[in-house]
Amino acid sequence: MTFPAARPRRLRRTPALRRLVSDVHVRPSDLVLPVFVKEGIGSPQPISSMPGVVQHTRDSLKKAAAEAVSAGVGGLILFGIPAVKDARGSGADDPAGIVQLALVDVVAEVGDALAVMTDLCLDEYTDHGHCGLLTDSGEVDNDATLDRYASAAVAQARAGSQVIAPSGMMDGQVAAIRTALDAAGFATVPILAYSAKYASAYYGPFRDAAECAPAFGDRAAYQQSFARSASEGVREALLDVAEGADAVMVKPAGAYLDVVRAVADAVDVPVAAYQVSGEYAMVEAAAAQGWIERERIVLEQLTAIRRAGAGMVLTYWATEAAGWLR
Ligand code: PBG
Repeated sequence: MTFPAARPRRLRRTPALRRLVSDVHVRPSDLVLPVFVKEGIGSPQPISSMPGVVQHTRDSLKKAAAEAVSAGVGGLILFGIPAVKDARGSGADDPAGIVQLALVDVVAEVGDALAVMTDLCLDEYTDHGHCGLLTDSGEVDNDATLDRYASAAVAQARAGSQVIAPSGMMDGQVAAIRTALDAAGFATVPILAYSAKYASAYYGPFRDAAECAPAFGDRAAYQQSFARSASEGVREALLDVAEGADAVMVKPAGAYLDVVRAVADAVDVPVAAYQVSGEYAMVEAAAAQGWIERERIVLEQLTAIRRAGAGMVLTYWATEAAGWLR
């Protein structure tokens, strides 16, 4: 007996058929816009390695937040850049620090029209640029850093953060932050943990944007090695869930889709993926040369990240892409 030839192309023939059978979608509300706010600047400062992205003033940030709301974006995540940095990253938990002040502004501007999240780390606030406190010998001191994160989490919650997102990759950071938030009366504030965060060259442009390149060394002693199997990312995510993470993140996204898939299969909480600064910069640079089609490639990448299992995607294109998707 002979079988009729398989013809997968039948369902690709027309746009209507292709749309009908598509089962991976990117909605504006899946997207989260990372934004930078800098203390003491009079006008938004362009970031040369991230064309189209700026360091905001408190005023221009409010405008960007309102635009994200109009576009239907799901959330934004705030990074603060203080005018003065010190060894302990004092700006991170100062109630009058830039991120706390900007947070109050943004929440007042957009209410809960989108989720207002805060990145929680010390690297934007330390003069040495590392994500934690240093020991005398210059190593990042895991446990001493946890107290700083706990304090910063409470400061962010007090200023109105609706999701706290620790990105420093200290062991035990989620438990420390959860305990502190609960003790301070913020039991209802969720934690989105940067769980599987790799020591990545893709963060290069971000370090211009957030002025946080390490003054010496690199972050390989605390961020993950990309030369390890995806199971290590799963282990990190499961630990964070056990410590109380309400959602987990994989970062970067595009080169780590195997990790996104493995984590999505392993956890029962929402999974986010962060399409980072280097991913953005590479597309913008090639598009500026006319070598690729910018909009098509951005949508292809965002769809691939969703296809790998991420529910939310953090992307610098969030507002613009949301406009294309409506
Ligand atoms: C740390 C942090 C980094 C990014 C987000 N949070 C930088 C780093 O770990 O060096 C990178 C984001 C990007 O590259 O877009 N606070």
